[in-house]
Amino acid sequence: MKAGPSAIPVHIVLLGTAAGGGFPQWNCWCPTCRTARISPHRALRRRQSSAGVSLDGERWFLLNASPDVHDQLDCLPGPVPAGVRHVPVEGIVTTDAELDHTLGIVLLREARHLQLVATASVRRILEHDSRILPVTRAFARVEVTEMKLGQSTPLAYRSGEFSGITVEPFEVPAGTPRFSEEGTPGHTVGLIVLDGESGGSCAYVPGCGELDEALLDRLGGTDLVLFDGTFWTDDELISLGIGDRRAREMDHQPISGPSGTLSRLSRLARPKKVYTHINNTNPILLEDSAERAIVERAGLTVGADGMTFSI
Ligand code: MLT
Ligand code: MN
Ligand code: ZN
Repeated sequence: MKAGPSAIPVHIVLLGTAAGGGFPQWNCWCPTCRTARISPHRALRRRQSSAGVSLDGERWFLLNASPDVHDQLDCLPGPVPAGVRHVPVEGIVTTDAELDHTLGIVLLREARHLQLVATASVRRILEHDSRILPVTRAFARVEVTEMKLGQSTPLAYRSGEFSGITVEPFEVPAGTPRFSEEGTPGHTVGLIVLDGESGGSCAYVPGCGELDEALLDRLGGTDLVLFDGTFWTDDELISLGIGDRRAREMDHQPISGPSGTLSRLSRLARPKKVYTHINNTNPILLEDSAERAIVERAGLTVGADGMTFSI
């Protein structure tokens, strides 16, 4: 990670590192959720996956807006506001239209003016399938900037001024949300977040069905990789008796095993590599588990809420 002596590095805060449902999940008493409640020192609670990005540490862009967004915004660093109303969010960039990444949009309706940066496909799902956009628009002006696959989009503050940060979406293998039928390209993307001045970059990929060589190459050129750590094994939910779908059927490549993401990501020398979007069943959530030790020995970090990085 680098920043020239005069450049202000981009700050990235992990606001939520759990997959949909959070950790512990409200209705779950699987071994890890049980531990988080009974022995909280052995497993930190986590909110649903989202990150904050800022160049000045005051004006923030959200990467996805989770259902926990109110608590998450309370954790953002920044000065005490002088005014009566203060909106610390300049814009929301979405990687997909899943509920854990977009329900927070409607929960920010009091802002009166929101900026959303999304692909055309995500925008369509939010408009017509989940209807999160029309519902939010009943309360607030929502300006949508369309980002195109493979093209960098500048992030502007709500005033219109360029923030210095750009995002570039790239397609990742995944299905559409269950409530959406149409699978047009760009419904699920990863993001390259770039600080135009320092050249520092971060890849944000909270959901990915397959980490192939081309994607690995792309991630290898960045300074920080925040990657899908949903499941440890492919049959995680089946073996616990709480689901009938494999990780891969849910478009999440598991961490462990010869073709798991850990063996692939650990080959990348340059970036710091951090797992996020971790499902509540995943044993890496336990501070003292063998699986946690395996991840750390491979040189990766298990993301936790509040972790901060500079690029
Ligand atoms: C996922 O990560 O696979 C989705 O968020 C699933 C869901 O929300 O149920
Ligand atoms: Mn999810
Ligand atoms: Zn659980």
